[in-house]
Amino acid sequence: MNQAAASIAPALLAWWDRHGRKDLPWQRDPTPYRVWVSEVMLQQTQVTTVERYYDAFIARFPDVRALAESPEDAVLHAWSGLGYYSRARNLQRAARMISENHDGVMPGNIEALMALPGIGRSTAGAILALAMRERHPILDGNVKRVLSRLFRIEGEPAGPETLRELWAIAEACTPRDRAHHYTQAIMDLGATLCTRRTPQCTRCPLAELCLARAAGIAASLPARKPKRLRPQRFAVLMLLRHGQDRVLLEKRPAQGIWGGLWGLPEAASTTEVSTWCVENFGRAPSRVLVRPVLKHGFTHFDLDITPVEADVDPPLRALEQDRWLWYNLREPAEVGLAAPVTKLLRSLTHPT
Ligand code: ADE
Repeated sequence: MNQAAASIAPALLAWWDRHGRKDLPWQRDPTPYRVWVSEVMLQQTQVTTVERYYDAFIARFPDVRALAESPEDAVLHAWSGLGYYSRARNLQRAARMISENHDGVMPGNIEALMALPGIGRSTAGAILALAMRERHPILDGNVKRVLSRLFRIEGEPAGPETLRELWAIAEACTPRDRAHHYTQAIMDLGATLCTRRTPQCTRCPLAELCLARAAGIAASLPARKPKRLRPQRFAVLMLLRHGQDRVLLEKRPAQGIWGGLWGLPEAASTTEVSTWCVENFGRAPSRVLVRPVLKHGFTHFDLDITPVEADVDPPLRALEQDRWLWYNLREPAEVGLAAPVTKLLRSLTHPT
């Protein structure tokens, strides 16, 4: 393996020099903090989406301390629309740990980085390679695909055996010189040419070295995970309006979907909305309107949302401040909102 591994970096680096991505926002001034934030955003989100959020997030939280000292709502607000919100909560938890235990300076060794929430071996390796120019292997989804093909790894993709093998290969392929460019290059190859469905082998700088291509099976590696059925779930979300501008939001529990974000209160069914208002406000709404279903896909299930709009009087008994919020559509508070909630709130100010 080692001889084949040694041929990879020179060919890949020559390709990257001509075709690689060099002007992504996080590549400008790649400090450990900036690279960390980008890698966490990129864990489950595409580059084009991350590009729309990254600069604003960094402007709002320019360093570890700013991130550590901000309210969680402000962090979730800046993350709203990126999904997988536990990433944002872990990012802030890690920033608080770095402030307390490392004087606000990102740790420079891999074990200390991996001890932080949300930073696994690959993310830690990417931070040290891209920001510190150190030699560390990475193994994110793109790199797994590239290496599985190059070395024709046919085992179960998520199995411990396969992972051990892939890490050993990743380690052997990472060069001593230009480790930071190599790291970016192998991710770029996976994102642009060695793609999942239709790899463009004729343009690949590593085609000659690729065992899967030699066997004519590049597109079928890595083996697909068996497809799970996505269960369908249903929710009735209430748009409880107080006058023109106010809508009631409820803080979601930290665990579960949209954890820690502000959402629309749920009713058990569309017919329960009036009862809910009587119980919580002491009187029925003056107008109730069931709106068309909105579909939202999660990783593990699909959610059909039935929005119900209702006009209500102000609450007769005071609502707890840290659980309920009369959100002002004209002067929105800096809080985290799930994407479908943003969409529904926008439909109130921009009726179609
Ligand atoms: N995916 C994960 N990290 C990345 C990076 N630094 N550039 C492009 N895509 C990535």
